[in-house]
Amino acid sequence: MEFSKINTPQRVKVALLGCGTVGGGVIRLLRDNAEHLAARVGAELEIAHVLVRDTSKQRVPECLPGWLTTDPEVVLNDPSVDVVLELMGGEHPAKSLVERALESGKGVVSANKFLLAKHGPALIARAAQRGVDLAFEASVGGGIPVIRTLRDSLTSDWVSSIHALLNGTCNYILTRMRQEGLPFESILADAQRLGYAEADPALDVDGHDAAQKLVVLAMLAFGAELVGEVHTEGIRDLDETDFRFAERFGFTIKHLAVGIDRGEQLELRVHPALVPQANPLASIHGVLNGVFIHGRALGPCLLVGRGAGEMPTAVSVVADLVDVARARVEGASGLATRAIRTKKKQLMPLGELEARYYLRFDVRDEPGVLGTIASELGKHNISVEQMVQEGRGSPGATVPVLMITHRSREAAVDAALSAVAKAGFLARKPRLLRIEEF
Ligand code: NAP
Ligand code: HSE
Repeated sequence: MEFSKINTPQRVKVALLGCGTVGGGVIRLLRDNAEHLAARVGAELEIAHVLVRDTSKQRVPECLPGWLTTDPEVVLNDPSVDVVLELMGGEHPAKSLVERALESGKGVVSANKFLLAKHGPALIARAAQRGVDLAFEASVGGGIPVIRTLRDSLTSDWVSSIHALLNGTCNYILTRMRQEGLPFESILADAQRLGYAEADPALDVDGHDAAQKLVVLAMLAFGAELVGEVHTEGIRDLDETDFRFAERFGFTIKHLAVGIDRGEQLELRVHPALVPQANPLASIHGVLNGVFIHGRALGPCLLVGRGAGEMPTAVSVVADLVDVARARVEGASGLATRAIRTKKKQLMPLGELEARYYLRFDVRDEPGVLGTIASELGKHNISVEQMVQEGRGSPGATVPVLMITHRSREAAVDAALSAVAKAGFLARKPRLLRIEEF
C-alpha cells in the first residue's frame, strides 16, 4: 500500500462540497485561524473550490465568489485538490462524490451522519484500501470530540454502553417545552432559524437524525456494522401533561439514544425517555448534546457540548481537516482510517427489553376503567409501583391516568396495552415512556 503524498507540502488545497450553515462556518474558521492552522498542519490550507446548487445565493462574506461552482467535475477533476469537505448532506449526490474523491486519492472530511450511518463501513473500507483518510467528527455531536474519543482515546478499552442526547434540535425543543410551556411548532421554528435543524426538520423531531448518529457511534464503540433497523421514536406526541407528571414522579423527559453491548447482540434504540432528575444527562439543556459512555476499565465518562450550529460544527470539521492534511504532509495518509474495524452485529429485539415504564391512559372517567387497566396489567405479570389519576371532571370527561411500573418486559407491556386499547374507554392510544436508570 502506498500513502498518498501531496505534491506541494507548503500548501494543502481544499474543496468544499456545500456552503450552507456548516460550510459557511468552516470558511470563516479557516480565515480567522489561518496562521495557527498552518502551523499545526505544517502547510497552508488553501480553498480551491466551493460547490453549491445556486451561485447567486448570499454566502458568508469570507466566501470569495471566484471559488463558487455548481459543477462537481470542476472539483473532482482538479488533481491539485488534496482534501474534500463534504458538507452538503443527504445520500445523493454526496455518496458518489465522496466515493470518487476517495478513489482519486483525495482525503475526505464529512459531517454527514446519514451517509456514515448507511454507508460508513463500505466508505471506510474504500478509503483504507486507497490509503487515504475519511474523517467524520462533525457527523455526531456537533462540536463535541466524541468520534475521536471512541476511535482513539478509548481504543484500549471495551465500551459497554452509551446513553446520549444526540439531537440538539430535540433537546432545545424539550427544554423550552418544559421550562416555558410553549407549543412544539413555535419552538421548532426557532430551532430552524438558529440553524440547528436539518433541511428537513422531520429528521430531527421524528428521531432519525439521532438514530443515524447512534449507528455511527455504534460503529466505533462496538465495532458494529448493523443488521436491521434501530427502533426510533420522535418527540411530536409529548405534551405538557407528560412533562408535569414526569416532574411529579422525580424525572425529566429527554430524547435519548441508547447503545448497549449485549454480547452477540446490540441493544440500540432512540426515543423520549424519563431520566431521573439527579442523572447528569437530565441537566444538559438547550442545544447541548451529552454522551455518557461507560467503559469496562474506564468506568463512566461524560462529554457535553454544543451539538449543532454553524461554529461548533465547523470546529469539528476543521479539526478533521487539520488531521487529514497533516497526515498527507507527513506521508501518513490513511493510518487513522485503517484503525477502524467493523463486523456484522444483530440488534436485540425491543420486546426483550426490561425496564420500568411510565404509562399514560387518557380515559373516560367512569366506573370500571381503573379495574380493567389493572386487570390487564396483572394478567401480563406487570406490577404497578405508583399511580395517579388527575382531575375531577364531570362523569364521562377525559382524564389522564398515570402509572409507573416495576421492571417489566416490553413485550408483556405491549400486549397489556393492546388489550386495554380494545376496552373502548381510551380517548387516544396509551403513551409508553421507558424509564432509563444508568
Ligand atoms: P445546509 O445549510 O442545507 O447546506 C447545504 C449546502 O450544500 C448548501 O450550500 C447547498 O447549496 C449545498 N448542496 C446541497 N445539495 C447540493 C447539490 N446537489 N449540489 C451542490 N450543492 C449542494 O446544510 P448544513 O446545515 O450546513 O449541513 C450540512 C451537513 O452537515 C449535513 O450533512 C448535516 O447533517 C451536517 N451537520 C449539520 C449541523 C448543523 O448544525 N447544521 C451539525 C452537524 C452536522 P446551496 O446553498 O446553493 O443551496
Ligand atoms: N440537526 C442536527 C441537530 C444538527 O439538531 O442535532 C447536528 O447534527
